Amino acid sequence: MVLGVTGGLAAIKAPSLVRRLREAGVEVRVAATDDALRFVPALSLAAVSGAEVFDRDAWFRPDGEARHLSLARWADAMLVAPATADALAAAASGRAHDPVAALALSVPRVAYAPAMNAAMWRAPAVVRNVARLREDGREVLEPAVGPLGTVGEGEGAGRLPDEASLVDALLRTPRPRDLVGRRVLVSAGPTREWLDPVRFLSNPSSGRMGFCVAEAARDRGASVEVVHGPVSVPVPHGVATCAVESAEEMLEALVPRFDACDLLVMSAAVADWRPRERKAEKEPKRDGDAALELVRTPDLLETLAGRRARQTTVGFAMETDQGVARAAEKARRKGLAFIALNYPAGEESAFGGDATRLTFVTPDGVAEELPHLRKREAAERLLDRAVATFVA
Ligand code: CTP
Repeated sequence: MVLGVTGGLAAIKAPSLVRRLREAGVEVRVAATDDALRFVPALSLAAVSGAEVFDRDAWFRPDGEARHLSLARWADAMLVAPATADALAAAASGRAHDPVAALALSVPRVAYAPAMNAAMWRAPAVVRNVARLREDGREVLEPAVGPLGTVGEGEGAGRLPDEASLVDALLRTPRPRDLVGRRVLVSAGPTREWLDPVRFLSNPSSGRMGFCVAEAARDRGASVEVVHGPVSVPVPHGVATCAVESAEEMLEALVPRFDACDLLVMSAAVADWRPRERKAEKEPKRDGDAALELVRTPDLLETLAGRRARQTTVGFAMETDQGVARAAEKARRKGLAFIALNYPAGEESAFGGDATRLTFVTPDGVAEELPHLRKREAAERLLDRAVATFVA
């Protein structure tokens, strides 16, 4: 494969990434733009890959060989890492002005790993270019969240993902585009039920699982809408989002969107109770204990199931024991194609982390247990199963 390096600070990570890819058994050639070579010397890239770097000077050979064509014949895949905002813009509009852009036009499978500052990643023009590349069937990875390299940039979404994720993305089989023309609605994150202006009931859901489902559906070609509560991870790129707080607001946002969707994945951790009243003023503390009167919130899935026409609906459940039997009963009661069961505690806790262990349970009690997987991979498996239930 070819690693295409473009001109951002994260280019300094390229030699180590080449080494990691070679350790994974991948033969690597490197292509680099002029700007990339201001951050990382061609000689380092040649030494770790064991081959001359394809840069502007090595583009056309004295014997007439055009390397963007000969390398494209050799390569089965290409990863552009880091991909700058400019590299994404060039790729989205089909430019061929530098070795990386020219090569990416003719390699069959190309993935981009963007790295830039958080504001650039969120800029409408970048969002548009990323969406266009995805429509063209190019894979664009989500940047990681964390401290950004350039002095004074602070933290945010924009870091080059770690080497292990980049190698994973490259080695995994390309995903099917089996959701083109489909509308997918996802609910994500916790809800928040206020007692007074400073206190609420909620839960530790981060929103990550639902966002992974939304990203996976987007990459498989769906038009995606996400209704989410107060989440603690950044909302995904390239999907429509609607932020709400309480269970009732979530229901209000879901109802009109549900009628037009083909698939609803209800991964939000919806509060089952809310305080009977929401005080307009902060309740001052008093001596002694206090009791809180709670009333049930509407069950969103059950309410939506009553409006169901052709939609496939998938729910989540958190169980500590008797998981499968209880989940099957829930799937029957809520009219679900299946329920994704996960676990609240221990190392495999679904809350917050990047990985989870799901068991899919059908209304008739058939269970498929997945191994402990990254949430994005678990989301892909969930969609594989949901797609199989679609009536053509
Ligand atoms: N759900 C919902 N409306 C609610 C509560 C939950 O639509 N008021 C959805 C959740 O989004 C999830 C599924 O229903 O998809 C979870 O079902 P639930 O019966 O709440 O199961 P658990 O959360 O596992 O809780 P419990 O066992 O206490 O019923």
